[in-house]
Order: sequence, then C-alpha cells, then structure tokens
Amino acid sequence: MRIQLLSDLHLETEAFEPAPAPGADLLVLAGDIDAGHDGLDRFAGWPVPVVYIAGNHEYDQRDIDSATAALRERCDRLGFTMLERDSQVMTVRGRRYRLLGTTLWCDFDLLGTTERERCMRAGAYFLERVQCSTRDGQPFGAAAVREEFMRCREWLAGQLARGRRGAQWDETIVITHFAPSPRSADPRYGLQPASASFCSDCEDLMGRAALWIHGHLHCRHDYLAGGTRVVCNARGHVERGEADGHEPLCVFEI
Ligand SMILES: [Fe+2]
Ligand SMILES: [Fe+2]
Repeated sequence: MRIQLLSDLHLETEAFEPAPAPGADLLVLAGDIDAGHDGLDRFAGWPVPVVYIAGNHEYDQRDIDSATAALRERCDRLGFTMLERDSQVMTVRGRRYRLLGTTLWCDFDLLGTTERERCMRAGAYFLERVQCSTRDGQPFGAAAVREEFMRCREWLAGQLARGRRGAQWDETIVITHFAPSPRSADPRYGLQPASASFCSDCEDLMGRAALWIHGHLHCRHDYLAGGTRVVCNARGHVERGEADGHEPLCVFEI
C-alpha cells in the first residue's frame, strides 16, 4: 500500500493547497489540519480514500466530545473515515490492512514518573491559555489529557494484542496525532518537560504494527522502533521555518 501522509497543515493560519500524490492508494490526514474544521472540505472529492485522525488543535476552544461528534459528522458528509478509537480494514491489491486510529494525547511521563508533575505544569500553560478545551463544562487540563491518553492507549493495546491467527487482516497500521516514542521529539528542542506534551513512550506496543503514523511534532521522521516503522510528515508553520523541506507529495510504502 502506498500512503500519502499530511498533518499539521494548520490551515487556520497557513496557506497550503493540497494536491493528490501520484500513485497513492490512501490519503492519511494525521491531525491539526484546521482548528476551524472547514479546511477539511478542501479534500472533498479526493481521488483515493481519505482517513482522518483529529489533532489537538481541532479541539481548540471546544468541548471535546461535541467536537469529536462534529468532526465525525463532517467526515461522514465528505465521505472520509474518521478514526477515534476505531479500526477499519482496507484491501489494496489483495492485501488486507487494518488501520487503528486515535488522537492518543499524552501521559506526561516522557521524562519518568518522578518528573510527571513538572511536565504537566509545562503542558498546562498551553492547555489552559491556548487550547482552552472543555469536557462537561470543566477545563480539559493536563490531568484530563492524561486520563484521555490512558483510555486511548488501553484501547490501542487491546487491539494490538488481538492475535493474527484467523485474523481478517494481513498488516496493521497505527495512526495517532501525538507521537508514540521519545525518538520523535523535535531535534530543535531535545528532551525537556515541554516534550512530554508531544511524545509518550509507547515502545512496548511496537512490533505488533508494521507502521505507526503520527503528526503533532512539526518536523519529519522515518525510523524503526521495536520492529515498527514510525513516520511523521508534519508541515508546521512557514514563518518558523518548519515547512522547509516538507514534501506534501511524498508517499510511504508498506
Ligand atoms: Fe501541529
Ligand atoms: Fe498537534
């Protein structure tokens, strides 16, 4: 399968015109496409199936559960598949690919459990001043993000534990917005408390998927961890130089 991967287009502020990659079988939109949601409509009528995973910015200033429902409704209308703790099997040239998708969020344990409080404080500023999401009328702060991560991770671990014998798929592809390994930390900043708002260590889940796609870090990655290939093709913000070298038409093959 050949996958065109786009994430972190940030169409709420960035100018970007998407074009289909020649030869791709699938377009994956791995979150932070448009905080305003309307930008998803630019992919209407795409020539291959579109799979969408929400980024944290699609929840900006919104109730988490209402925003998920609104995004699902928009994806239904556009004919896209939104994955939030959902799986879908797709057959390409006779091979069956199981796609497992969730935003994932983060556990703030990237620097170890003893540093969790410090990492949560580092994340709280962004969550409370910029993202300002809510759930049931309460701020969706660092503790709520960690709880949501636990739910997403537990779902993913359960799916990945399902045996392959007699399975309805040949390969598994995981798609998350947040990163599953410290190896995905942005090399501009290295590992520091703020990094825990971007990556969590899920390497114990590697090896059960051929490919793990993520976004959220505004840089590019393609590496192997525990037998799983991890890729990120985030675009980011032009004025910060993050889009330099971004290849929107690049295709990842598994
Ligand atoms: Fe982003
Ligand atoms: Fe993000």
